[in-house]
Amino acid sequence: MSNPIIRVTNLRKVYKVGNEQVVALDDISFTVPQGQICCIVGTSGSGKSTLLNQLAGLEKPTRGAVYIGKYNISSFSEDKLARFRQRFVGFIFQSYNLMPSMTALENVSLPLIFRGVGKSKRNAAAKRILTSVGLGGRMRHTPSQMSGGQQQRVGIARAFVAHPKIIFADEPTGNLDSRTTAEVMNMMVSLCRENNQTLILVTHDPNLAKYADRIIRIIDGNIVDDRTNQSIATAPPRQFLESTESPSQETDDEPALPGPDNATDESPPSDEADAAIHGNEISDEKEGNDE
Ligand SMILES: Nc1ncnc2c1ncn2[C@@H]1O[C@H](COP(=O)(O)OP(=O)(O)OP(=O)(O)O)[C@@H](O)[C@H]1O
Ligand SMILES: [Mg+2]
Repeated sequence: MSNPIIRVTNLRKVYKVGNEQVVALDDISFTVPQGQICCIVGTSGSGKSTLLNQLAGLEKPTRGAVYIGKYNISSFSEDKLARFRQRFVGFIFQSYNLMPSMTALENVSLPLIFRGVGKSKRNAAAKRILTSVGLGGRMRHTPSQMSGGQQQRVGIARAFVAHPKIIFADEPTGNLDSRTTAEVMNMMVSLCRENNQTLILVTHDPNLAKYADRIIRIIDGNIVDDRTNQSIATAPPRQFLESTESPSQETDDEPALPGPDNATDESPPSDEADAAIHGNEISDEKEGNDE
Protein backbone atom coordinates (compact mmCIF):
# COMPACT_ATOMS: atom_id res chain seq x y z
CA MET A 1 0.00 0.00 0.00
CA SER A 2 1.24 3.53 -0.71
CA ASN A 3 2.19 5.86 2.10
CA PRO A 4 -0.83 7.00 4.11
CA ILE A 5 -2.18 10.47 3.41
CA ILE A 6 -3.11 10.83 7.11
CA ARG A 7 -1.13 9.44 10.05
CA VAL A 8 -2.23 10.12 13.60
CA THR A 9 0.04 9.13 16.49
CA ASN A 10 -1.07 9.06 20.13
CA LEU A 11 -3.31 12.06 19.69
CA ARG A 12 -4.66 13.61 22.87
CA LYS A 13 -6.71 16.76 23.34
CA VAL A 14 -7.60 18.15 26.73
CA TYR A 15 -9.64 21.32 27.07
CA LYS A 16 -9.37 23.42 30.18
CA VAL A 17 -12.63 24.99 31.27
CA GLY A 18 -12.16 26.99 34.46
CA ASN A 19 -10.51 24.57 36.86
CA GLU A 20 -11.86 21.55 35.06
CA GLN A 21 -10.17 19.51 32.38
CA VAL A 22 -12.17 17.83 29.64
CA VAL A 23 -10.44 14.94 27.91
CA ALA A 24 -12.00 15.22 24.44
CA LEU A 25 -9.48 12.84 22.81
CA ASP A 26 -7.62 10.36 24.98
CA ASP A 27 -5.06 8.43 22.91
CA ILE A 28 -5.86 8.02 19.23
CA SER A 29 -3.65 6.46 16.55
CA PHE A 30 -4.59 5.41 13.01
CA THR A 31 -3.63 5.90 9.37
CA VAL A 32 -5.74 6.62 6.30
CA PRO A 33 -4.61 5.71 2.75
CA GLN A 34 -5.16 8.16 -0.11
CA GLY A 35 -8.61 7.76 -1.64
CA GLN A 36 -10.27 6.11 1.33
CA ILE A 37 -13.78 7.17 2.35
CA CYS A 38 -13.66 7.00 6.09
CA CYS A 39 -16.63 7.52 8.37
CA ILE A 40 -16.04 8.50 12.00
CA VAL A 41 -19.10 7.63 14.08
CA GLY A 42 -19.94 8.02 17.74
CA THR A 43 -22.51 9.47 20.07
CA SER A 44 -22.76 13.16 20.90
CA GLY A 45 -19.75 14.33 22.89
CA SER A 46 -17.59 11.32 21.97
CA GLY A 47 -14.94 13.54 20.35
CA LYS A 48 -15.77 13.33 16.62
CA SER A 49 -15.58 17.05 15.82
CA THR A 50 -12.52 17.46 18.03
CA LEU A 51 -10.78 14.70 16.05
CA LEU A 52 -11.77 16.27 12.72
CA ASN A 53 -10.50 19.67 13.87
CA GLN A 54 -7.16 18.10 14.81
CA LEU A 55 -6.86 16.30 11.45
CA ALA A 56 -7.61 19.52 9.60
CA GLY A 57 -5.14 21.56 11.65
CA LEU A 58 -7.86 23.76 13.11
CA GLU A 59 -6.71 23.04 16.66
CA LYS A 60 -3.39 22.00 18.15
CA PRO A 61 -3.16 18.68 20.03
CA THR A 62 -2.27 18.53 23.70
CA ARG A 63 -0.05 15.56 22.87
CA GLY A 64 0.71 13.42 19.85
CA ALA A 65 0.89 14.44 16.20
CA VAL A 66 -1.02 14.56 12.94
CA TYR A 67 0.92 13.95 9.72
CA ILE A 68 -0.65 14.84 6.40
CA GLY A 69 1.52 13.31 3.70
CA LYS A 70 5.05 14.25 4.66
CA TYR A 71 4.03 17.17 6.86
CA ASN A 72 3.73 17.07 10.64
CA ILE A 73 1.01 19.71 10.76
CA SER A 74 1.00 19.73 14.56
CA SER A 75 4.33 21.55 14.38
CA PHE A 76 3.11 24.20 11.93
CA SER A 77 2.68 27.88 12.80
CA GLU A 78 -0.81 29.35 12.36
CA ASP A 79 0.25 31.02 9.11
CA LYS A 80 1.56 27.80 7.70
CA LEU A 81 -1.55 25.94 8.84
CA ALA A 82 -3.76 28.46 7.05
CA ARG A 83 -1.78 27.96 3.84
CA PHE A 84 -1.85 24.20 4.33
CA ARG A 85 -5.65 24.24 4.59
CA GLN A 86 -6.00 26.42 1.52
CA ARG A 87 -3.74 24.09 -0.48
CA PHE A 88 -4.63 20.58 0.69
CA VAL A 89 -8.01 20.53 2.33
CA GLY A 90 -11.69 21.04 1.51
CA PHE A 91 -14.41 21.39 4.13
CA ILE A 92 -18.12 20.62 4.11
CA PHE A 93 -20.14 21.85 7.09
CA GLN A 94 -23.52 20.95 8.53
CA SER A 95 -24.66 24.58 8.24
CA TYR A 96 -23.08 25.02 4.76
CA ASN A 97 -21.03 28.13 5.76
CA LEU A 98 -21.66 29.90 2.46
CA MET A 99 -21.01 33.63 2.14
CA PRO A 100 -24.58 35.04 2.24
CA SER A 101 -23.99 38.01 -0.06
CA MET A 102 -22.25 35.97 -2.74
CA THR A 103 -23.80 33.99 -5.58
CA ALA A 104 -23.30 30.25 -5.89
CA LEU A 105 -20.68 30.92 -8.58
CA GLU A 106 -18.78 33.37 -6.37
CA ASN A 107 -18.92 31.04 -3.36
CA VAL A 108 -17.54 28.13 -5.36
CA SER A 109 -14.82 30.32 -6.91
CA LEU A 110 -13.44 31.44 -3.53
CA PRO A 111 -11.00 28.57 -2.88
CA LEU A 112 -9.49 29.17 -6.31
CA ILE A 113 -8.84 32.82 -5.48
CA PHE A 114 -6.90 31.64 -2.43
CA ARG A 115 -4.90 29.41 -4.74
CA GLY A 116 -4.05 32.20 -7.15
CA VAL A 117 -6.15 31.01 -10.11
CA GLY A 118 -7.09 33.80 -12.53
CA LYS A 119 -10.69 34.91 -12.97
CA SER A 120 -11.57 33.28 -16.27
CA LYS A 121 -10.10 29.91 -15.27
CA ARG A 122 -11.78 29.90 -11.89
CA ASN A 123 -15.16 30.92 -13.28
CA ALA A 124 -14.90 28.13 -15.82
CA ALA A 125 -13.97 25.60 -13.10
CA ALA A 126 -16.74 26.80 -10.77
CA LYS A 127 -19.33 26.63 -13.57
CA ARG A 128 -18.18 23.15 -14.52
CA ILE A 129 -18.48 21.73 -11.03
CA LEU A 130 -21.76 23.55 -10.27
CA THR A 131 -23.17 22.01 -13.43
CA SER A 132 -21.88 18.60 -12.40
CA VAL A 133 -23.73 18.82 -9.07
CA GLY A 134 -26.94 19.79 -10.90
CA LEU A 135 -26.87 23.53 -10.17
CA GLY A 136 -26.25 24.85 -13.67
CA GLY A 137 -29.47 26.83 -13.34
CA ARG A 138 -28.63 28.36 -9.95
CA MET A 139 -25.22 29.96 -10.54
CA ARG A 140 -26.45 33.50 -9.89
CA HIS A 141 -28.54 32.62 -6.84
CA THR A 142 -27.41 33.65 -3.37
CA PRO A 143 -27.71 31.11 -0.50
CA SER A 144 -31.04 32.56 0.72
CA GLN A 145 -32.48 31.95 -2.75
CA MET A 146 -31.73 28.20 -2.58
CA SER A 147 -33.06 25.19 -0.67
CA GLY A 148 -30.98 23.51 2.03
CA GLY A 149 -30.05 20.66 -0.30
CA GLN A 150 -29.02 23.10 -3.02
CA GLN A 151 -26.93 25.10 -0.55
CA GLN A 152 -25.15 21.94 0.51
CA ARG A 153 -24.48 21.08 -3.12
CA VAL A 154 -22.85 24.52 -3.44
CA GLY A 155 -20.86 23.62 -0.30
CA ILE A 156 -19.76 20.37 -1.92
CA ALA A 157 -18.82 22.12 -5.17
CA ARG A 158 -16.79 24.64 -3.15
CA ALA A 159 -15.00 21.89 -1.22
CA PHE A 160 -14.05 20.00 -4.39
CA VAL A 161 -13.39 22.77 -6.91
CA ALA A 162 -9.69 23.15 -6.10
CA HIS A 163 -9.15 19.37 -6.07
CA PRO A 164 -7.82 19.12 -2.51
CA LYS A 165 -6.20 15.89 -1.37
CA ILE A 166 -8.57 15.53 1.59
CA ILE A 167 -12.16 16.59 2.20
CA PHE A 168 -13.37 16.87 5.77
CA ALA A 169 -17.12 16.83 6.38
CA ASP A 170 -18.69 17.32 9.81
CA GLU A 171 -22.32 16.14 9.84
CA PRO A 172 -22.78 17.33 6.22
CA THR A 173 -26.31 15.93 6.03
CA GLY A 174 -27.40 16.92 9.55
CA ASN A 175 -29.88 19.52 8.24
CA LEU A 176 -31.22 17.48 5.31
CA ASP A 177 -34.12 15.06 4.82
CA SER A 178 -33.40 11.42 3.98
CA ARG A 179 -33.83 11.73 0.21
CA THR A 180 -31.56 14.77 -0.02
CA THR A 181 -29.11 13.04 2.32
CA ALA A 182 -28.81 10.16 -0.14
CA GLU A 183 -28.27 12.58 -3.05
CA VAL A 184 -25.62 14.55 -1.20
CA MET A 185 -23.81 11.41 0.01
CA ASN A 186 -23.75 9.87 -3.48
CA MET A 187 -22.43 13.13 -4.86
CA MET A 188 -19.60 13.40 -2.34
CA VAL A 189 -18.58 9.76 -2.75
CA SER A 190 -18.65 9.96 -6.57
CA LEU A 191 -16.55 13.12 -6.63
CA CYS A 192 -13.98 11.50 -4.33
CA ARG A 193 -13.80 8.34 -6.45
CA GLU A 194 -13.40 10.42 -9.58
CA ASN A 195 -10.07 11.88 -8.45
CA ASN A 196 -8.97 9.42 -5.74
CA GLN A 197 -9.60 12.00 -3.04
CA THR A 198 -9.81 11.10 0.63
CA LEU A 199 -13.02 11.84 2.52
CA ILE A 200 -13.19 11.96 6.30
CA LEU A 201 -16.83 12.14 7.28
CA VAL A 202 -18.01 12.66 10.82
CA THR A 203 -21.55 11.69 11.73
CA HIS A 204 -23.73 10.33 14.49
CA ASP A 205 -26.05 8.87 11.81
CA PRO A 206 -25.31 5.11 11.49
CA ASN A 207 -27.13 5.07 8.12
CA LEU A 208 -24.28 6.98 6.50
CA ALA A 209 -21.77 4.23 7.26
CA LYS A 210 -22.94 2.31 4.17
CA TYR A 211 -21.33 4.94 1.93
CA ALA A 212 -17.88 4.49 3.51
CA ASP A 213 -14.96 2.13 2.87
CA ARG A 214 -14.18 2.16 6.55
CA ILE A 215 -15.94 2.97 9.79
CA ILE A 216 -14.09 4.17 12.87
CA ARG A 217 -16.18 4.32 16.04
CA ILE A 218 -15.10 6.48 18.93
CA ILE A 219 -16.33 6.56 22.51
CA ASP A 220 -15.01 8.99 25.12
CA GLY A 221 -12.12 10.05 22.91
CA ASN A 222 -10.84 6.56 22.08
CA ILE A 223 -11.23 4.33 19.01
CA VAL A 224 -13.30 1.33 20.08
CA ASP A 225 -13.92 -0.18 16.66
CA ASP A 226 -12.25 0.21 13.27
CA ARG A 227 -13.54 -1.88 10.39
CA THR A 228 -13.55 -2.07 6.62
CA ASN A 229 -16.97 -1.85 5.07
CA GLN A 230 -17.26 -5.07 3.06
CA SER A 231 -20.58 -4.06 1.51
CA ILE A 232 -18.91 -1.39 -0.65
CA ALA A 233 -18.01 -3.37 -3.74
CA THR A 234 -18.12 -0.64 -6.35
CA ALA A 235 -18.39 3.12 -6.49
CA PRO A 236 -21.88 4.58 -6.82
CA PRO A 237 -23.08 5.49 -10.32
CA ARG A 238 -21.83 8.72 -11.81
CA GLN A 239 -25.09 9.73 -13.44
CA PHE A 240 -24.92 13.36 -12.38
CA LEU A 241 -21.19 13.85 -12.84
CA GLU A 242 -19.61 15.54 -15.80
CA SER A 243 -15.91 16.20 -16.29
CA THR A 244 -14.30 17.75 -13.22
CA GLU A 245 -10.92 18.29 -14.79
CA SER A 246 -8.48 20.14 -12.54
CA PRO A 247 -8.30 23.93 -13.04
CA SER A 248 -4.55 23.83 -12.50
CA GLN A 249 -1.95 21.74 -14.23
CA GLU A 250 -0.37 20.37 -11.05
CA THR A 251 0.53 16.75 -11.26
CA ASP A 252 3.04 16.20 -8.46
CA ASP A 253 1.84 14.10 -5.57
CA GLU A 254 2.92 16.31 -2.74
CA PRO A 255 3.52 19.87 -3.83
CA ALA A 256 5.14 22.33 -1.46
CA LEU A 257 2.98 24.73 0.50
CA PRO A 258 2.60 28.00 -1.37
CA GLY A 259 4.34 31.05 0.02
CA PRO A 260 2.43 34.07 1.32
CA ASP A 261 3.28 35.96 -1.88
CA ASN A 262 1.44 33.47 -4.09
CA ALA A 263 0.54 35.55 -7.16
CA THR A 264 -3.08 36.49 -7.82
CA ASP A 265 -4.58 38.94 -10.26
CA GLU A 266 -6.43 40.77 -7.51
CA SER A 267 -6.60 41.30 -3.78
CA PRO A 268 -7.11 38.14 -1.69
CA PRO A 269 -10.51 37.34 -0.18
CA SER A 270 -11.27 38.43 3.36
CA ASP A 271 -10.33 36.54 6.52
CA GLU A 272 -14.07 36.04 6.96
CA ALA A 273 -14.19 34.14 3.66
CA ASP A 274 -11.18 32.05 4.70
CA ALA A 275 -12.87 31.18 7.99
CA ALA A 276 -16.12 30.25 6.22
CA ILE A 277 -14.36 27.95 3.79
CA HIS A 278 -11.71 26.45 6.01
CA GLY A 279 -13.34 26.40 9.44
CA ASN A 280 -12.63 28.74 12.31
CA GLU A 281 -9.17 30.09 12.87
CA ILE A 282 -7.26 28.82 15.88
CA SER A 283 -8.19 31.03 18.81
CA ASP A 284 -6.65 31.26 22.26
CA GLU A 285 -9.79 30.17 24.06
CA LYS A 286 -9.96 26.95 22.04
CA GLU A 287 -6.42 26.06 23.03
CA GLY A 288 -6.66 23.58 25.86
CA ASN A 289 -3.03 22.64 26.14
CA ASP A 290 -2.73 22.60 29.91
CA GLU A 291 -2.87 19.21 31.45
N1 LIG B 1 -13.66 24.21 22.89
C1 LIG B 1 -13.97 23.33 23.84
N2 LIG B 1 -13.77 23.62 25.14
C2 LIG B 1 -14.06 22.74 26.10
N3 LIG B 1 -14.59 21.52 25.89
C3 LIG B 1 -14.83 21.16 24.61
C4 LIG B 1 -14.55 22.05 23.52
N4 LIG B 1 -14.90 21.43 22.37
C5 LIG B 1 -15.39 20.21 22.73
N5 LIG B 1 -15.34 20.05 24.07
C6 LIG B 1 -15.75 18.86 24.81
O1 LIG B 1 -15.08 17.75 24.26
C7 LIG B 1 -15.93 16.62 24.15
C8 LIG B 1 -16.03 16.17 22.71
O2 LIG B 1 -16.69 17.18 21.94
P1 LIG B 1 -16.95 17.06 20.38
O3 LIG B 1 -17.49 18.37 19.94
O4 LIG B 1 -15.72 16.57 19.74
O5 LIG B 1 -18.06 15.92 20.33
P2 LIG B 1 -18.84 15.31 19.07
O6 LIG B 1 -18.59 13.85 19.08
O7 LIG B 1 -18.51 16.06 17.85
O8 LIG B 1 -20.36 15.56 19.48
P3 LIG B 1 -21.66 15.96 18.57
O9 LIG B 1 -22.12 14.69 17.89
O10 LIG B 1 -22.64 16.43 19.58
O11 LIG B 1 -21.24 17.03 17.62
C9 LIG B 1 -17.27 17.04 24.74
O12 LIG B 1 -17.33 16.59 26.06
C10 LIG B 1 -17.22 18.55 24.67
O13 LIG B 1 -17.97 19.11 25.71
MG1 LIG C 1 -19.60 17.35 16.57
